Amino acid sequence: MSSLPPALASAVADVDAALDVLDVPTTPEVLYAPVHHALRGRGKMWRPAIVLLTAEAFGGADARRRAMPAALATEVFHTFTLVHDDIMDKSATRRGAPTVYAEWGTSTAILAGDLLFSLAGDLLRRTETDRLGDALESYHAMVASLCEGQALDLAFETRHDVTPDDYLAMIDGKTGALLELAFDLGALIGGASDDERRRLREAAHALGRAFQLQDDVLDIAATEADLGKPIGGDLREGKRTWLLLRAIEASGEEGREADRAFFDGALDGGLAPEAIGDARERMERLGVLSEASGEAQAYAARGEAGLDVLPASGAADALRVLAHALATRGK
Ligand code: IPE
Ligand code: IPE
Ligand code: MG
Ligand code: MG
Ligand code: MG
Repeated sequence: MSSLPPALASAVADVDAALDVLDVPTTPEVLYAPVHHALRGRGKMWRPAIVLLTAEAFGGADARRRAMPAALATEVFHTFTLVHDDIMDKSATRRGAPTVYAEWGTSTAILAGDLLFSLAGDLLRRTETDRLGDALESYHAMVASLCEGQALDLAFETRHDVTPDDYLAMIDGKTGALLELAFDLGALIGGASDDERRRLREAAHALGRAFQLQDDVLDIAATEADLGKPIGGDLREGKRTWLLLRAIEASGEEGREADRAFFDGALDGGLAPEAIGDARERMERLGVLSEASGEAQAYAARGEAGLDVLPASGAADALRVLAHALATRGK
């Protein structure tokens, strides 16, 4: 992304270069070809950038250097979650390429994911810090929260009584937990106090909501080229996103019966691919797309304000830009 500010772009570039030289075997190919495929398809790399910049904000250049294995751990762990998520969501495309699941099948995708999960733990273990015990505790708590969120996400697909608050609790796990961990690892490695860690986690919690709300908006409002996969996946899968839940609420008003019937159909097994354009128009007309973006921006602003706990530095400024970008990406 060429529009990133220099401090953020340099953190992303450092992570990109370190991923290129990760020591990962190549044989047996039946396992490592899909592992390398997943590691090659680079995303935004914001989570590892957060680890580096947070460590730097608290502990300077040496902390940033020591934070690299932990930063890589968050990105490799994220890659693992995506490999398994694409099995669960039956997604064929990610980051503009076929998913491991689509190319190699479910069993190989499970194994490639497991391998990446283990690699993430091994990277974290190598971090030079006297607070490794705390880091591992935080990491394992994140894994539990993320699994809880993913399980709820799937369970919601067949429920008709999911509320926007249920949705927020679910995304705190599936998206928020790893973002919180990224800030927390950086804080631990940089030498932050327990109180600073707690305040930073609160900010990250809001940023996680901003990020996922915007992710849901982009799923229907972005272009396929920008998204790296076909749009409308959430509606086709019958995902209870905040957008869909609000569309159902907003179409409960008198005179909106046709919209209501349409979105009730999305709750019942998801929409057909040809109905996605129609869904987008209806959501625009009901105002729920701009409402969701507004929510995302409000959470981002809250998270950004919470970043005041960071000692003043170029790294802290870059993190504030990133916080803002979470809710505005794709615009
Ligand atoms: C997408 O994450 C899935 C979620 C956890 C919401 P990202 O949007 O960070 O994906 P990449 O890493 O940039 O591809
Ligand atoms: C993915 O959430 C979250 C995790 C992988 C933990 P989604 O299913 O919403 O993400 P995309 O849309 O496939 O990237
Ligand atoms: Mg999913
Ligand atoms: Mg998915
Ligand atoms: Mg999504």
